[in-house]
Order: sequence, then C-alpha cells, then structure tokens
Amino acid sequence: MSRSAHPAGPRHADVLPEGHYSAPPADLNALDPKVWAQTVTRDVDGVATVGGLDVKTIAEQYGTPAYVLDEADFRARARAWRSAFGADADVFYAGKAFLSRAVVRWLHEEGLNLDVCSGGELATALSAGMPADRIAFHGNNKSVAEIHRAVEAGVGRIVLDSFQEIVRVAHIARELGKRQRVQIRITVGVEAHTHEFIATAHEDQKFGIPLAGGQAAEAVRRALQLDSLELIGIHSHIGSQIFDMSGFEVAAHRVVGLLKDVRDEHGVELPEIDLGGGLGIAYTSDDDPREPHEIAKALTEIVTRECESARLRTPRISVEPGRAIVGPTAFTLYEVGTIKPLDGLRTYVSVDGGMSDNIRTALYDAEYSVALVSRTSDAEPMLARIVGKHCESGDIVVKDAFLPSDLAPGDLVAVPATGAYCRSMASNYNHVLRPPVVAVNDGEARVIVRRETEEDLLRLDVG
Ligand code: LLP
Repeated sequence: MSRSAHPAGPRHADVLPEGHYSAPPADLNALDPKVWAQTVTRDVDGVATVGGLDVKTIAEQYGTPAYVLDEADFRARARAWRSAFGADADVFYAGKAFLSRAVVRWLHEEGLNLDVCSGGELATALSAGMPADRIAFHGNNKSVAEIHRAVEAGVGRIVLDSFQEIVRVAHIARELGKRQRVQIRITVGVEAHTHEFIATAHEDQKFGIPLAGGQAAEAVRRALQLDSLELIGIHSHIGSQIFDMSGFEVAAHRVVGLLKDVRDEHGVELPEIDLGGGLGIAYTSDDDPREPHEIAKALTEIVTRECESARLRTPRISVEPGRAIVGPTAFTLYEVGTIKPLDGLRTYVSVDGGMSDNIRTALYDAEYSVALVSRTSDAEPMLARIVGKHCESGDIVVKDAFLPSDLAPGDLVAVPATGAYCRSMASNYNHVLRPPVVAVNDGEARVIVRRETEEDLLRLDVG
C-alpha cells in the first residue's frame, strides 16, 4: 500500500489531553527488551525480527493480525521457573494463559507440569501427550462429566473448590474404584493489589473455601474422612498480575497456619502446598517484574520459616505461573489501516484486529505499548490510540501510545507482551476471524494454531 501523506496528529510539544502516557520515549524505534520477547531486535534495514525472521516476511506468509510467539523465549522462561524452584518443588504452567498442543509438548520437554481448568484444556493436554499424573485440574464449577474424565484419566490432583465438590469427586472416584489425590483451595483473605476482576483471595468471591470461620478446617475434616480421596495439600491463589510479594507472604503464613491446625487436630502433616500463580509481567517499560529465582527464594524462605516456627516438616511447594511464562514471549502483529487525526486530541490508528484478539484493554483497562515494526522512522512522535475494527468505541488495543507521525496505512505495528490471555480470551465478535499463533525459532516459523476461516464460522452455524 502506498504511504499517502496525511495530516499529522498532535505532537508531543502540543498540549496533550488526559491519559495514561508520560512523555514520548527518547527513541521511538527502540524495542525495550523488558516488554519484547527475548530474540526481538531490528535488522540492518530497521525491520523488527524475532527468532531470526523479519516481521514483513511473517506478515506476507501468514497474514495479519497474527500472534507471533518466540519459542526459544518460551522455553527459556519455562526452564528458568523450573530451575528456580528446583527438584523439591513443582511448577504447573497455567494453561488458561495460552494453551496449544505445541505448548504442551514444550512444557513436557522442559519438565513442567500443567494446570488445566476445563474439559477442553484437559483434552488438549492429554492429546499432546502430557502424562496425566502431571496435570492439576482446577475450577469452581467442574461438571460431573469433567470430574469423571479427569479421575478416569488419572490426573495428579484435583483442586477441590467447594464442599459440594468434595462429595462429588469422592463419589466419582469411588464409582471408578480409584483413590483421587486432591488439594483444597482456600481463600486466605488477602487483598491482592491488582484489578478487582483478577484478585481471588478476598472472601467475597466465587473461588475457594474461606479460611475464615473455620470453613477450610471443616473442609479438611470432611476430605480426610472420605476413603476415595487422598488429601495431599492446601491450595491458595491470590490473584493475577501482582508485583508486590507481601500478599504471597501473608497467604503462605495462613496456609501454613492451617497445616499446623490440621496436624494438631488430626495428627496428619499434609505434604504439599500450592501458592498459585499471579506474578506480574512488564506490559510497558514502567513495570518492573521479579525474576523467577527471586520469587522462588522469597516463597521458599517464607514457607520454610513458617514451618520451622510451627514445627512442621516443610511441605513440597508448587506454583502455577501462566502469564509470567507465556506473556512476554509473544507480540501481536497488525497492519495499519485507517488513520484519523483528531485535532487537539489524538490520532486514532485503526488496525486489522482489535478487541476480539485482545480484550484485556477493554476488560481490565490494561496498558500496552506499541511500535512501528516494518521500518524505523525519524518523524516526530504523535500521540496515538490503537483501535480495532469492531463496532464499538471501547474497541481499544492501546489506549495511549506514541508512534511516528509519518505512520501510514500498510505499515506494520506490533503490540508486545500479548502471549497471555489474548489468544485464550479471543472471540469472534462481529464474526471477525481469530488470528493464528505463529511460533518462530531459529529462523523458522510454524503455525501452531491456525487462523480461523469463514468455513470454521459457518461449520458451527447449523441452522
Ligand atoms: N492458578 C490459578 C488457580 C489461577 O486461577 C490462575 C489464573 C493462575 C494459576 C495463573 O495466573 P497467572 O500466573 O497467569 O497470573 N484473564 C486475566 C487473568 C485471569 C487469571 C485467572 N487465573 C487477565 O487477562 O489478566
């Protein structure tokens, strides 16, 4: 497409409207390694590359929009988590962040376990060869059919989320002649510092059994009485996109407190605790996430300390990072379409996707960054809002960002850190087709989830 001239939007020197942005970055062409996948860089022509492949070639071969995933980065992050926690702990990747068969195989190869929370995720895991005993099955409303399937497959643990589920799982396990390993998910009453919709340890919400009022202790009592259940531990997940470790410390303290009460009441030392996922990643250069080894050290120290003071054997710890492994490994590649400068406000840059491939901005007011990736530019920065092609004004991908003012239709832009909760929460709104996931490694690209087609849409429409 030709690079037609268009009136530039407001410059940084102009009076800027209210927004989330600070000043324009010093260098609009820089790709901050904090938010971009590890192998992303620019080639001599200024075109961004990932895994040795340039984005123009990727766009030509696979089209846009596309999620482009850096396989080496994914594996490196998975390995970093694995080695940070060592042989005495388990890392369960949270499949809800993004799951595909290739991802399951990578996890298996890198020695990670898998957390699934639906029959669909379980089916994906099993079909890609994840051994069932390395799968944890979650969910606040698992169906009888899902529980049946999980027990039959021999999943390593089912995380019980309610009193009714204790009975339900026990009954199904008995019917199948099995003794199912289970954990009980408790809510420890921590207010995690994150968006309300993704905080999960305060009491007024749907997940888990409250520690308060002795309910969690009662759940343990009941589970211990049922022969078809083997209660292996207690689970706590306090929320998602969290930077502050203090919530995990309080959670660990309270979970260990329950283990102590269980020991005192029943003479049983539960051998495992799971502290869930939720570690934050950098969506913009302002975010400062913790490294896996720091997290592992902090969590292990607190659990060990609490257990020593309670005179308990230190239980085996497990964690469930999703976003922290896959989030930074992918970016969404879009082609720029209509550009609409609004005087005194900002320039609306429409891309060929939108809220159907990234609902997080609309849903959580999430912040992202964006860069021109098909070339570099020395033009002045303009304040832009990256919007999609959907029929509503809340269809925003990046609320406030600076892009070069010579941006033109046909340019490629990319939004980094879209590996988690973007493809997995993608929709068909407006019958827009969900983008593919293209994995790049060592100069080679391969589609791991193909682009949806109109035939896919019509196949479901059987009226
Ligand atoms: N374990 C359990 C029990 C969970 O519920 C979750 C996330 C995780 C682990 C993984 O959390 P992570 O490490 O990925 O933060 N759609 C939202 C996030 C919802 C998280 C739900 N549970 C978002 O886009 O921010």
